[in-house]
Amino acid sequence: MSISFCETTRTFHLKANNTSYIFQVAKDGYLAHLYWGKKINEYSHSNELRFADRAFSGNPVAEDRTFSLDTLPQEYPSFGHTDYRNPAFQIQLENGTTVTDLRYSSHKLINGKPNLEGLPSTYVESDDEAETLEITLKDDLIGLTVILSYTAFHQFDVITRSVRFVNEGKTNLILLKAASGNVDFRASEFDLISLPGAWGRERHVARTELRPGIQSIESRRGASSHQHNPFMALVSKETNEDYGDVFAFSFVYSGNFLGTVEVDQFGYSRATMGINPFDFSWLLEPDQSFQTPEVVMVYSANGLSEMSHTFHRLYQTRLCRGEFRDKNRPILINNWEATYFNFDEGKIKEIARHGKELGIELFVLDDGWFGKRDDDTTSLGDWFVDKRKLPNGLEILAQSIRDMDMEFGLWFEPEMVSVDSELYRKHPDWCIHVPKRRRSESRQQLILDYSRQEVCDEIINRVSDILKNAPITYVKWDMNRHMTEVGSASLPAERQRETAHRYMLGLYRVMETITTKFPHILFESCSGGGGRFDPGILYYMPQTWTSDNTDAISRLKIQYGTSFVYPTSSMGAHVSAVPNHQVNRITSLEVRGHVAMSGNFGYELDITQLSFDERETMKEQINFYKKIRTIIQFGNFYRLSSPFTNNHTAWLHVSQDQSEAVLTYVMVLAEPNDPFRKIRLKGLDPTKKYQICGEGKSFYGDELMNVGINIPRLNGDFKSIMWRLKSE
Ligand code: DGJ
Repeated sequence: MSISFCETTRTFHLKANNTSYIFQVAKDGYLAHLYWGKKINEYSHSNELRFADRAFSGNPVAEDRTFSLDTLPQEYPSFGHTDYRNPAFQIQLENGTTVTDLRYSSHKLINGKPNLEGLPSTYVESDDEAETLEITLKDDLIGLTVILSYTAFHQFDVITRSVRFVNEGKTNLILLKAASGNVDFRASEFDLISLPGAWGRERHVARTELRPGIQSIESRRGASSHQHNPFMALVSKETNEDYGDVFAFSFVYSGNFLGTVEVDQFGYSRATMGINPFDFSWLLEPDQSFQTPEVVMVYSANGLSEMSHTFHRLYQTRLCRGEFRDKNRPILINNWEATYFNFDEGKIKEIARHGKELGIELFVLDDGWFGKRDDDTTSLGDWFVDKRKLPNGLEILAQSIRDMDMEFGLWFEPEMVSVDSELYRKHPDWCIHVPKRRRSESRQQLILDYSRQEVCDEIINRVSDILKNAPITYVKWDMNRHMTEVGSASLPAERQRETAHRYMLGLYRVMETITTKFPHILFESCSGGGGRFDPGILYYMPQTWTSDNTDAISRLKIQYGTSFVYPTSSMGAHVSAVPNHQVNRITSLEVRGHVAMSGNFGYELDITQLSFDERETMKEQINFYKKIRTIIQFGNFYRLSSPFTNNHTAWLHVSQDQSEAVLTYVMVLAEPNDPFRKIRLKGLDPTKKYQICGEGKSFYGDELMNVGINIPRLNGDFKSIMWRLKSE
């Protein structure tokens, strides 16, 4: 049993692998948080709740001046009864007031982990992998029931949380805020780590000290976004890759989110994560319920590396689903940066044929194959083939590429509509918009209103028609703008602020339907690169295009930051042409290959124009990647040297049985008279002797990990090595 309840002290103790999470039904039925951290065997209240009469912290019961919700560490704090800190939720009643009062009513234990209907979430494959605790809280005055769900995974240091609101009263309630989880720490000596960015430089690592007041990360853009990833971690000051406490929150959601940490007057900190309450509300009529998405909480006693390993393994095996979850991912050639919109059938086949000769396994036809799409101003929504470019149609093209013994993949942007499209002319109200207001465009496109069932159904049918009529085995699912003028023609006034979340529910339904209908297709998500690289989308599509920025040097930071949460098997990485199209940098094919081979490998350039030497180098890269790809995609990943603090970056992929590893080392700028460098490896078997392939040297794992290995002097900017290590 991983979850126990002590009747005498009314204390819950959740045990997940090496983690304990403890809370108590405290005075008057309020849920008080007691501990989250390294597993302890038996909890006996060494840090029991303490009370004192604190000035200006009011008292729900007048006579007990020591009890205030303002000073109580809570599990799911309400608003209005003496707690002045950030509430986890807020509800407007029919009389216009916003005060609620939740008390413990009952609880139940469930073996395994129930699914969250209509929402992505982590899962178990058998009930003995986890246990779930559901706590029912009630506000009897208004008939509100709130069910807090906690799942403790036996094999992972993971507690997941989500919340269900049920209106059992007789009047309408309006949810103004509904976070998925809240933890009140009795400390604030933490740093906050998050992954901010922008288009082309996603998920850079930011680490700042907590200070009094509220610090937050959020998206108001209608997508999880390039700007912030739905992830934050509180770490102790001394925490590094291998040492120190980490309390991490990752939100399984792809829309507007908010993660906050509030440091209060006593130096305690409250961490809360959930749907962004900004411009959100949800009308709960009597008997209706609202389910929040899930927040995944990971504890590591041994630094950031262990945190990432937990996320990687959990997300790879118990979030991603489908046929490709555990399968090696194909090496692909994508025509986007090779041709942009300017291609015809002959050119596509030529690229594919060259790709086949190099050993590439999958050809992906990117944007521009449909409607009249000669640039990015038209045709989104018109999902029928452009016969001017592909006169024989998609089926014949796909088949001829399959006949070359290559897989065929296709790009879609199913959530969008161009103003210049047949779809928009027919259904001008099918986009997200506000009547009589301007419809702001971005990349000259509008967003289809996925909060409407008929819109979703139409898109499911259109995409399905294409997928069932051609031998397609891969889909790149793109999304290239954020929401403005958020409103839906199908919703009444009092539900307009539900649009953004209803959009996500619609999107999840569309993704669920299409991926279930086509289980043999590998889906890769994309949003102008990595603008929706989040656990919500990974539930449906096991890989994501990491960034539109394909420059090897920019990618060091992007892939390093992404690795904090997301497994290598989820990260698309391609070699592109030089000068690089995003930053104009010139780097060698070698360094481009080494960085791209650290993810799901592919190419994205005109391979029909290569020199003999380039072709030979690519053939070697492809051969090499085929030998190492299982280690790269499914091994354990170790960050060895950070691009944020060093002129060089190093990382290591180690096979799960520790028999092999791949070391990648990239030096950014050449320095005069630079020191000799060595690097200490991690995660190897200390007793195994590893041969450094091609270098004629062998060392035991303990030596490589403790003494380290010399890195050759690399002369010139942007130089790299990639070594395969094999145990003898
Ligand atoms: C944005 C994507 O990130 C690119 O890879 C490419 O597919 C373009 N869209 C096509 O419009």
